[in-house]
Amino acid sequence: MLRAPADTITILPASHATGRVRVPGDKSISHRYALLAALADGDSVITGYSPGADCAATIECLRGLGVTIRRTGPASIAIAGRGLGGLLPSQTPLDAVNSGTTMRLLSGIAAAHPFRTIITGDASLQRRPMRRIIEPLTRMGARIAAEGARPPLTIDGGSLHGISHEPEIPSAQVKSGVLLAGLHASGRTRVMERIPTRDHTERALEAFGATVVRDQTGIEVEGGQQLQARTLTVPGDISGAAFWMALAGGTPGSDIHIDGVGLNLSRIAVLEVFRRAGMHLEWSKDTEAAGEPVGTLHFSFGNSESFGVEASEAPLIIDEIPALASLAAMMPPGSTFSVRGAGELRVKESDRISALADGFRAMGSAVEEFDDGFTLEARPLTGGTVDAAGDHRLAMAFAIAATRAAAPTTISGASSVDVSYPGFFDELARLTR
Ligand code: S3P
Repeated sequence: MLRAPADTITILPASHATGRVRVPGDKSISHRYALLAALADGDSVITGYSPGADCAATIECLRGLGVTIRRTGPASIAIAGRGLGGLLPSQTPLDAVNSGTTMRLLSGIAAAHPFRTIITGDASLQRRPMRRIIEPLTRMGARIAAEGARPPLTIDGGSLHGISHEPEIPSAQVKSGVLLAGLHASGRTRVMERIPTRDHTERALEAFGATVVRDQTGIEVEGGQQLQARTLTVPGDISGAAFWMALAGGTPGSDIHIDGVGLNLSRIAVLEVFRRAGMHLEWSKDTEAAGEPVGTLHFSFGNSESFGVEASEAPLIIDEIPALASLAAMMPPGSTFSVRGAGELRVKESDRISALADGFRAMGSAVEEFDDGFTLEARPLTGGTVDAAGDHRLAMAFAIAATRAAAPTTISGASSVDVSYPGFFDELARLTR
């Protein structure tokens, strides 16, 4: 591995992958604990808080809204809750930087506070669709202005009333934004889901003392419930762990253990897909913290084979598709990986279908693009120069596949890994040494 002064990194071919890893705290859970702690009565302490830039953006936005947050260790923060509805107006726009989760969840909270909040973000976030959150929050009683329904959002919040909402596209971010608004609203707020999405908000609300009603078709919260401060630990991020699974799956003789990973049922569909791709994978649940199961993963090389993802599975593994693609690129020539029903990939941190296709093609794979997915066919990886398009998950995916290339691979936009996994390249160097 060679670091260049600019935003590039060169990954050298490697022949093994072994070791024990701890992945950073889960990004989704970290955002939620910070937001709920800010709304709770009393002082919360969160350990294992994601060190990534996305979760740092949530902290900065909350500080802008008058919340006192102290770093008490490298991955530990103390948050002085302001109580439900107790946030203060920010004198300046809040910057969610690259974080869609920060913007969509915080919008739900800002919508319930009787003042103007402007939330903006970086160039990538300003391209992302927000109608999906603007529409239900407007129906609840907020006024939200956004040119072309893209950030920045200007939210004039106030008294909200509960609604029943069925998102058109399955989205945990939209569900969560609406439920957080519903927590402050009069009456009940219900979100219906045809395909269940990650349920960290529901579990976190319960962990902070709220009652959440869940049934076959949806989730309901009663407005006005006070939250209690908590001391909580965030489990490791399975979406970060997926890159080490891909590394193990593509490297003969590999053997990797990951400790302390979150194994929430709504996040582990990816394990089944890796298994389907032929890799050896074991996992055990060791404990449960604040309703979130935590355990150990152990994976090793297995003779991989062509695999695919059904449209109905796509929402459950949407964040792990880049990692799955890197395993596919490392498979024997002629093996394929197909994904359909994943049009949402086009509106993530980058257009993940076209940027992923361009990158893997530049490394030697054959990729056919569709509106809602792609098919990647493994060819011998040649190395070369690829652009991560400023997208953390693509930078990691290209780096993993690069270890199996015949020649070095230079990745531009590599510092984007800091969004969810600072230290990723050092860990890659350690595991492949
Ligand atoms: C997230 C939900 C997913 C996911 C994102 C994090 C969350 O997005 O892709 O990385 O924390 O709620 P959508 O809910 O928009 O699908």
